[in-house]
Amino acid sequence: MHKPLGMKISGTGRALPERVVPNSEFEKYLETNDKWIRERTGIVERRFVSEGETTASLAVDASRKAIEMAGLTPDDIDLIIVATITPEAILPSTACFVQQELCNKPVPAFDLVAACSGFVYALINATAMVQTGAYKHVLAIGAEVMTAITDPEDRGTAILFGDGAGAAVISATPDADGPALLHSTMSAEGSGDSVLFVPAGGSRVRTSQMTLDERLHYVKMNGREVYKRAVKRNHDLVDQTLSEAGVTADDIKLVIPHQSNLRIVESARERMGLAPDRMYTNIDRYGNTSGASIPICLDECMRAGRLEPGDLCLLIAFGAGFTWASALIRI
Ligand SMILES: CC(C)(COP(=O)(O)OP(=O)(O)OC[C@H]1O[C@@H](n2cnc3c(N)ncnc32)[C@H](O)[C@@H]1OP(=O)(O)O)[C@@H](O)C(=O)NCCC(=O)NCCS
Repeated sequence: MHKPLGMKISGTGRALPERVVPNSEFEKYLETNDKWIRERTGIVERRFVSEGETTASLAVDASRKAIEMAGLTPDDIDLIIVATITPEAILPSTACFVQQELCNKPVPAFDLVAACSGFVYALINATAMVQTGAYKHVLAIGAEVMTAITDPEDRGTAILFGDGAGAAVISATPDADGPALLHSTMSAEGSGDSVLFVPAGGSRVRTSQMTLDERLHYVKMNGREVYKRAVKRNHDLVDQTLSEAGVTADDIKLVIPHQSNLRIVESARERMGLAPDRMYTNIDRYGNTSGASIPICLDECMRAGRLEPGDLCLLIAFGAGFTWASALIRI
């Protein structure tokens, strides 16, 4: 989508579980240590849900804050899109749980599965929906309880992921001279199906005692392969966005990358020749929260005044599938 589309991020919100899990916690039961985790990933601590906290409860909490910032009420929302790979249940969609909790009336609501690229996919879809003129205020949410699918005994993944949610209200604007989606990319290529995946629980490998015994209901990841692909894809995304949108890195106030690994993020920053303060990171505090990482960052930046009207902000994401997406936004 390369024609600028009028849209406004009229509110953002985030919800993080209260339970803080420092790296030292894993030293108690895994062959790992704080130094290794910090140096290889940039993660210092992450948040894990406690009893009663779920993907939908985090999504609703983040959404209420976003709606409040937008100066709206939940009844003004006319479409809900939830990006998640850790749904409230297999059926119905997490978006339906969110609708039930948040809204007094029926509204269209659906989930979108694009892993770590999920929120950028949701934002681009929300923008397209407000552009049709049929919707005024669309809630785009990234919400994950990664602990639901992470094997606590697998040191390659257990240390990496965290739980959380972020939301944005995407509102219609009449033209693209002010706030706008200036450029966007969404893509997918399914060759990642044996590199980063959950083997069982779907129609291909049904849940059975064997799959539970073999721990096939948990995420499996070839970290080194994902790492290489993520670095290359982020470089391509950055190059493509700058060239197709006709902007330079200097024009962009802030880049918000998916928080996969600090070294992956640093590599994208170096590619763009950006000073450290123009590439936002919070992976040290929350780990990799998959589809929730970008909207959590976005909310932190909006509330801290790091993004103001007229600023250009670039979102870039790469995740399981493989999927990737970017969005160049004028705030
Ligand atoms: C997972 C990741 C941090 C591992 O870091 P890495 O530098 O690539 O490490 P490697 O996988 O090459 O493993 C190096 C060694 O550390 C070991 N190791 C793996 N996890 C470890 C841990 N938690 N603590 C200590 N050692 C660990 C490995 O077993 C390996 O040991 P070996 O050399 O004896 O075989 C990194 O690959 C990564 O971040 N990948 C991308 C993940 C990602 O972004 N996933 C989400 C998709 S968006």
